[in-house]
Amino acid sequence: MTGKPVLLITRKLRDVVQARAKQTYQVILNDDDHVFDADELIARCQNVDAVLPCHSEHFSADVIAALPKRLRIIANHSVGVDHVDLAAAKAAGIVVTNTPDVLSDATAEIAILCMLGAARRGAEGDAMIRAGKWDFWSPAFMVGRQVSGKQFGVLGMGRVGQVTADRARGFGMEIHYHNRTRLPEHLEKGAVFHDTVAGLFAVSDVLSLHCPATPDTRNIINAKTLALLPDRAILVNTARGGLVDEAALIDALQSGRLFAAGLDVFQVEPGGNPALAALPNVFLLPHIGSATEETRDAMGFRALDNLDAFFSGRAPQDRLV
Ligand code: DGY
Repeated sequence: MTGKPVLLITRKLRDVVQARAKQTYQVILNDDDHVFDADELIARCQNVDAVLPCHSEHFSADVIAALPKRLRIIANHSVGVDHVDLAAAKAAGIVVTNTPDVLSDATAEIAILCMLGAARRGAEGDAMIRAGKWDFWSPAFMVGRQVSGKQFGVLGMGRVGQVTADRARGFGMEIHYHNRTRLPEHLEKGAVFHDTVAGLFAVSDVLSLHCPATPDTRNIINAKTLALLPDRAILVNTARGGLVDEAALIDALQSGRLFAAGLDVFQVEPGGNPALAALPNVFLLPHIGSATEETRDAMGFRALDNLDAFFSGRAPQDRLV
């Protein structure tokens, strides 16, 4: 290849990241930061060597089939890659990378915020004051559930799950987890391993989801599995909306079987679920788990590190296929 490789950056990244990208690549930006639908994504990818997308761009098998031979790498600005059909990319000979590790702290912070917001009725209290409706106080007012000393269940003890467990330990919570493989002792740090989902759910006063969205985990939270949780448990989801059957979650929240939920991700994004948003016992955020200045920079740099490795003939450290 002569000259700088052409790189499409699909969404607005931090200035420092875009500036670094321009040093090495001929960069095509999306100045008004709109979301590309499939047709526009295909069109914009036609004359590029590489693309740096976010989870908002969907590289389905159909999109991948329409990509030019010239495009050799999809360097994602995300740890989750459920928006990319990895098998189709592999078959097309396109390298795919992600940005693990660098967003674990930020996402764990949001998981803890979701847990506390749900347990201590953060959304209700905030809404009441903003609406000018706080006209009463008593010891019986706005009583929530305390998380200190309770059992914190982690579904998916990868990097984000492990950091979130560390933060929950700070509240004196006992950590339980289920993962495809048991962690070595030094990473487990005394957490109790459950070899089945049912075993984990049965002991989770707070259940926090940290597994990837795959065909196997789609709707893993459903009427049947919600029924396994202890009475008045709290569900936290900062992973992917596709893990949760939202109709079943709404039923469990309305019946009081679940005390509350703290959610940063939804089946439909952007937008979320109006029926969930109508419930008082839900603390909601708009998919901002990794949205800190530090983490956005680190994600952008990590994606560029992967591109730089690829175009200099080295193996990208986060290559998935
Ligand atoms: C991720 O990295 O997967 C976050 O959800 C942001 O896309």
